[in-house]
Amino acid sequence: MSEQWWKESVIYQIYPRSFHDSNGDGIGDIKGITGKLDYLKKLGVDVVWLSPVYDSPNDDNGYDIRNYHEIMEEFGSMDDFDELLHEMHKRGLKLVMDLVVNHTSDEHAWFVESKSSKDNPKRDYYIWRSGRDGREPNNWVSAFSGSAWEYDKKTDEYYLHLFSKKQPDLNWENPEVREDIYQMMRWWLDKGVDGFRMDVINFLSKDQRFPDGEAEPGQRFADGGRFFAQGPRIHQFIQEMNQKVLSQYDILTVGEMPGVTVEEAKKFTAEDRNELQMVFHFEHVGLGDGPNGKWDNLPWRLTDLKEIMTKWQKGLEKKGWNSLYWNNHDQPRAVSRFGDDGQYREQSAKMLAVCLHLMKGTPYIYQGEEIGMTNVPFPSIEECRDIETLNWYEERMKEEGVDSADLLEAIYARSRDNARTPVQWDASENAGFTTGEPWLQVNPNYQEINVERALADPDSIFYFYQKLIELRKQEKAIVYGDYQLLLEEDEEIFAYTRTLHKETLLVVCNFSSNKQKRRFTDITGGKQQQLLITNNQHRIDQDDLTEVTIQPYETFVYKLT
Ligand code: NOJ
Repeated sequence: MSEQWWKESVIYQIYPRSFHDSNGDGIGDIKGITGKLDYLKKLGVDVVWLSPVYDSPNDDNGYDIRNYHEIMEEFGSMDDFDELLHEMHKRGLKLVMDLVVNHTSDEHAWFVESKSSKDNPKRDYYIWRSGRDGREPNNWVSAFSGSAWEYDKKTDEYYLHLFSKKQPDLNWENPEVREDIYQMMRWWLDKGVDGFRMDVINFLSKDQRFPDGEAEPGQRFADGGRFFAQGPRIHQFIQEMNQKVLSQYDILTVGEMPGVTVEEAKKFTAEDRNELQMVFHFEHVGLGDGPNGKWDNLPWRLTDLKEIMTKWQKGLEKKGWNSLYWNNHDQPRAVSRFGDDGQYREQSAKMLAVCLHLMKGTPYIYQGEEIGMTNVPFPSIEECRDIETLNWYEERMKEEGVDSADLLEAIYARSRDNARTPVQWDASENAGFTTGEPWLQVNPNYQEINVERALADPDSIFYFYQKLIELRKQEKAIVYGDYQLLLEEDEEIFAYTRTLHKETLLVVCNFSSNKQKRRFTDITGGKQQQLLITNNQHRIDQDDLTEVTIQPYETFVYKLT
């Protein structure tokens, strides 16, 4: 397995709208980010992945791009962007852009033309089909509720939109579309950006027969995923993109891939196939999904989490590479979901950090994770902003007997807005995010949880992350060691080893709020133990691990030599 800078890096994701507002309009912006680069440097991350900053009407907060070559006005100007890139490179930070090319905005010039008439040269840039008996061409559901097809009266055809109707899907079958996209990618890379995170990139190739999905009884729409996730030509498209663009630069590439399996991920990331470096899979964050997807939010078991993580660790061990994440702008806060955001917030946030960062793969930190930001008890739907949440809520409210309190409960558990409230910088009004009215209200707990407090406390989650990142630079086994799960059937403890040559790291994480007793002498027997990191101040180098008491949400890592 080759050694690469992007395997050794830690990546920090910024959702610009919620990061920091420099001009008081209530919306985070690029200058706001530039002003915080020293903070990121202090944390120690190597790369920033910036969620979309392109010109957009913001139906889906920038994931609906109107112009790939311009910056969203609310975020600033291209000069601001160039300054950000310059200031980052000056500090040795790399910048990875979000690449959203499964769809554009319906306000993109290509779509405006495409829609104008059936014989417009850009007609075939998007996916147009005739209806079936006065209905949509097939029964696919949009990720944001309702049909994935929108009728256009003027030309009497439907266009496909797997997301909102303001996000029409591009037609990747058309070679001109592909060339235009590649050219746009080169334009950004020539500017000096250091890579791409690729939005739903496994959806590019649709089964050209557009078959119906299998609908649940009584349902009009169905998930069409098996006809567009890893569709027939996907690897061909990605290989072409690699050959024509990616391989020409020394960059980082990560593909977001809902529904991807380990077997498919191996194909996407095997170095000898020349596609991508890593993928984001969704299996662990999908734990607890029910028939209604994430909104069911059923209880989950640690053994299931371990099984999923281990399957991916093992699956990509020899070929390919993992990306490691708990959080992003689409997921609820990890400390609320997998830890305990009450009594054990600090302990469990640190434990989750170790559990993830010690695995094999490139770790991602999402803004606010490093201070243990939590989910948000939105008092009413009026406080929510996310299109997925709002559409789902509206659809459910139309059904008889639905109680809005139940829906708000589900939103509290799983809505994307949990991740999108402004970063809590200090205890002043609006958490120091803006001097204006924030576009999404700050989490009411900002006086307790904020960056200023974290920086003043040597024992904070922030400094714990800082230490973890430093460790990654010191211990090669963290990056390149083999992974081995321990205590497979255990419902409280997630323990594993990482081994490189003669060195083994023992990683132990208590996912419960109870003390646990376990024995680790099989692994440690006779070896020198050096404590690398822990959230339990009483742990020492040569601790006796014959029958060790593990505190609630405790974590520790020993280096055994
Ligand atoms: C995945 C992005 O992460 C999400 O925020 C967005 O809504 C969809 N793709 C559509 O672009």
